[in-house]
Amino acid sequence: MHELSLNIDEHVTSILIGRDLFRKLEKISDRKLVLLVDENVYKLHEPKFAGLNCLTVPSGEQQKKLAFVEHVMRQMINMEADRTAFLVGVGGGLVTDLTGFVASIFMRGIRFGFISTTLLGQVDASIGGKNGVNLDGYKNMVGVFRQPEFVWCDLDLLGSLDQRELASGFSEVIKYGAIRDRSLFDYLEGHHEAILARNPEALEKIVSASAAIKVEIVESDVTEQADRKLLNFGHTLGHAIEKLTGMVHGEAIAIGMVMAARLSYNMGFLDAAEAFRLEQMIATVGLPVKTDLSHDDLYETLLKDKKRSGDFIHFILLQSIGEAFVHKMDLHSLRTAIHDLY
Ligand code: GLY
Repeated sequence: MHELSLNIDEHVTSILIGRDLFRKLEKISDRKLVLLVDENVYKLHEPKFAGLNCLTVPSGEQQKKLAFVEHVMRQMINMEADRTAFLVGVGGGLVTDLTGFVASIFMRGIRFGFISTTLLGQVDASIGGKNGVNLDGYKNMVGVFRQPEFVWCDLDLLGSLDQRELASGFSEVIKYGAIRDRSLFDYLEGHHEAILARNPEALEKIVSASAAIKVEIVESDVTEQADRKLLNFGHTLGHAIEKLTGMVHGEAIAIGMVMAARLSYNMGFLDAAEAFRLEQMIATVGLPVKTDLSHDDLYETLLKDKKRSGDFIHFILLQSIGEAFVHKMDLHSLRTAIHDLY
């Protein structure tokens, strides 16, 4: 078992990475416990939920909307949940983002925690207090920063994860290596087969290393004024690709990272060998490295990115594998840069 804590002001989030973490739920049974559970996780592990107040969340990004938040809160009222209720989200990023949002607004805020069941959730979405929903096709447009009391990353649950979802989470792990930790990147190059085969030690190593980087960055900049922007490496173009193609998050981010590395090279910040190394790593784990989208579609879509500030966008570039920086680009230069990419 690996333990970390995320400290923001007076609030401490306990992060546990290990096996068989479900049984710890018994410890919070003194309060009115309500579980918001991913439907597939519920079906696969039904006996674990016996006797608990569960609401299920159908899989798919289309549930990440205000109408579904209202639906959940109505069901909580029917269950007679009050302000002493404790909400636990059990699932991937969709469920934890929804849980944090519901818990932040239900009766002006109740306590909450997460059991994170996907690699993507364990290394990224469940840590850092970003909660919310999409609006009219704009990702995470409505939400709040609020930290859970705990995040339990149960490695056993990764055993039943679809291979495509595992690779999607791997993409975010590659991101951590690329932006902050060259030794993690070396490890991924040497152990990608073990990770994709779900070797328990390899999974514990990558989840712990990634979570530690996320904790360090979030503690230094919770509301994304500075270093937290680095976590968006590959995401500016990646989100646009995700929106236009419907690819899973990690796949779109993989292409976004390849493009951001090429852009870093084109602008003279990164050696060709380093850009190639990142592209190779991504291709080796079966993630896509390119898109057929037109330059104009890509550009028009990223103009709608909520991270855009006026005529500028904060683009994350690489200096080397393990070192990223924020580059403020005006939209005209970005348009030209996209045309030069592929
Ligand atoms: N997923 C990026 C962040 O939490 O800031």
